[in-house]
Amino acid sequence: MMRRPETPGVVIADFASRDAPFPLSDVHWVIGGKWEQQFMSHDGKTDTLLPGAWHNATQSWQLVGWDGWNQPIPAERCHGCHTVGLDPNTGAFVEANIGCESCHGPSSWHVETLGLGAVVSIADAEACGQCHARGRNRDGRLHFPSGYLPGGDLAASFAFSEPTQQQNESDWWGDGHARSRHEEFLEWQRGGHANSLRSLRESYDGRFGSVSEDCLRCHAGDAIVTPDREIGVDEARLGITCAVCHNVHGELDQPRIDCAGCHPSGAFYHEPSRNSAHVPCPDSAGVACADCHMPKTIAIGGAVRFHSHSPGIIEPQMAAMWGMPTSCNQGGCHAALGPVELQVRFESFYRSKVSR
Ligand code: HEC
Ligand code: HEC
Ligand code: HEC
Ligand code: HEC
Ligand code: HEC
Ligand code: HEC
Ligand code: HEC
Repeated sequence: MMRRPETPGVVIADFASRDAPFPLSDVHWVIGGKWEQQFMSHDGKTDTLLPGAWHNATQSWQLVGWDGWNQPIPAERCHGCHTVGLDPNTGAFVEANIGCESCHGPSSWHVETLGLGAVVSIADAEACGQCHARGRNRDGRLHFPSGYLPGGDLAASFAFSEPTQQQNESDWWGDGHARSRHEEFLEWQRGGHANSLRSLRESYDGRFGSVSEDCLRCHAGDAIVTPDREIGVDEARLGITCAVCHNVHGELDQPRIDCAGCHPSGAFYHEPSRNSAHVPCPDSAGVACADCHMPKTIAIGGAVRFHSHSPGIIEPQMAAMWGMPTSCNQGGCHAALGPVELQVRFESFYRSKVSR
């Protein structure tokens, strides 16, 4: 995430282009490179942000403008999520990049005792949410939660940028889906996966059998990611968190368990009879669960789109109301149908058959 320009292969932006807004010799840190690359300089005291971003998908430069007043200071606006052990007052950090201690917390005691001291390793979504959410620290100055350590209470050190319902904003669509990148934590929190353990405990009437350890393999994140600990029904603490679906130690973009791991025969595990009426698309269309339930509502640099993380269907009429993408024409499906026609088909198929 944060590398030196001298390292071979790191700089992918085209500095030979006439559009390059500054020379490569100004660059002290190269930020990212998968979708987008940004750059920082150093003024002798602190890192400074350079005013241009390179977009991989379009192979082009975009000027990032700001006025003299609001020039972003990386130590206040960026480093909290891209380094380990930042002191936001001096801008000094212990390690560049997202390291072990970003997710596990300070662990030198563990190293000094040759493995005796405990390390925090919980598959808590807040440990990811410290970076995969937007907001301000409690005094409003920093754009990341300073003072939060994994295992702690994220909301105590971070005021999230929550959506204002019924209004399009830069970070959120009017229906509450994310419009800006790295809002996964707040979206996830509002979906059913965050509550999968609570459903076994609160107001459960026993209709799918009594709660036993067997339920945990699909309902409890801690039981799923650390099976060797043999976590029991009373000890389980987590719902289906980020670390359940994502590999955490590399290959983050490859799923750890896919949807079918817990939804084995379609949407409804407990009531398989409801599955036949669930997806009208033929198998040949190759539509996946995430295409409809995690529609790409977030646009980056014009050409790349990210998935929404609240598994809610966006109906055509809702999409038309907010000018946002609908679940029904992800990837260009049904692009020839206008929103009214699409909504009519949605109603006639789903209202009568799938929803209760
Ligand atoms: C609250 C945490 C947070 C803050 C603050 C933050 N970022 Fe990020 N940044 C992320 C996360 C998480 C990602 C990866 C996921 C995504 O892009 O949605 C990311 C991705 C990026 C990428 C794309 C990386 C790639 O490989 O394509 C760039 C470039 C970037 N950030 C630059 C910045 C700059 C510059 C700042 C300060 C102005 C900043 N970020 C502030 C969390 C943060
Ligand atoms: C993106 C967050 C993240 C990063 C970065 C990360 N880990 Fe983990 N690690 C986790 C999570 C979450 C778990 C909990 C179990 C799981 O999901 O597999 C875990 C589990 C572990 C475990 C198993 C401990 C146990 O109690 O079962 C070890 C050992 C470990 N990590 C070491 C490391 C080391 C060493 C690094 C750096 C090279 C590292 N981790 C970086 C998130 C992370
Ligand atoms: C210290 C901040 C930080 C923490 C903590 C963190 N992330 Fe990230 N994450 C980032 C940044 C920054 C990137 C972009 C990296 C890049 O592009 O090089 C990223 C990228 C990702 C990606 C996209 C990877 C890809 O190549 O497509 C996934 C998925 C992801 N993170 C999941 C997680 C999960 C799950 C956790 C918690 C176990 C977590 N992250 C914890 C900052 C963080
Ligand atoms: C139910 C499974 C599931 C959970 C839980 C989940 N994700 Fe994802 N995530 C996905 C899928 C599926 C994709 C799309 C992967 C692809 O394109 O192949 C994805 C993609 C991403 C990406 C890459 C950008 C994009 O949207 O395409 C990031 C970053 C990410 N997730 C972060 C998180 C974080 C942080 C959490 C927890 C707050 C989380 N995810 C929880 C399934 C999940
Ligand atoms: C680790 C198991 C697991 C995985 C993996 C998983 N789910 Fe689920 N899912 C569940 C459980 C359990 C529930 C029921 C939650 C509750 O209400 O208690 C659920 C509920 C849902 C719901 C209804 C609740 C809502 O928020 O709308 C949707 C939709 C859904 N899952 C889609 C998906 C998709 C899409 C994927 C893959 C990207 C996926 N699931 C992966 C276990 C899983
Ligand atoms: C193979 C994975 C799996 C197992 C094992 C599992 N569930 Fe579920 N559970 C799901 C999925 C997927 C959903 C969401 C779709 C559905 O309703 O079938 C769900 C939803 C639920 C819901 C909320 C749905 C509603 O309609 O209110 C409850 C309550 C529930 N399960 C209880 C249990 C109990 C109790 C057990 C153990 C006896 C159990 N589950 C075992 C996958 C599983
Ligand atoms: C063609 C689009 C499409 C695909 C593909 C799809 N779904 Fe659905 N799914 C829907 C719609 C639409 C609904 C009904 C939502 C409503 O009534 O609000 C639904 C309902 C559900 C529900 C019940 C939601 C609730 O709130 O009770 C679950 C669970 C679910 N789907 C999971 C899945 C899983 C898992 C997959 C992949 C095996 C999948 N879906 C594939 C469109 C799709």
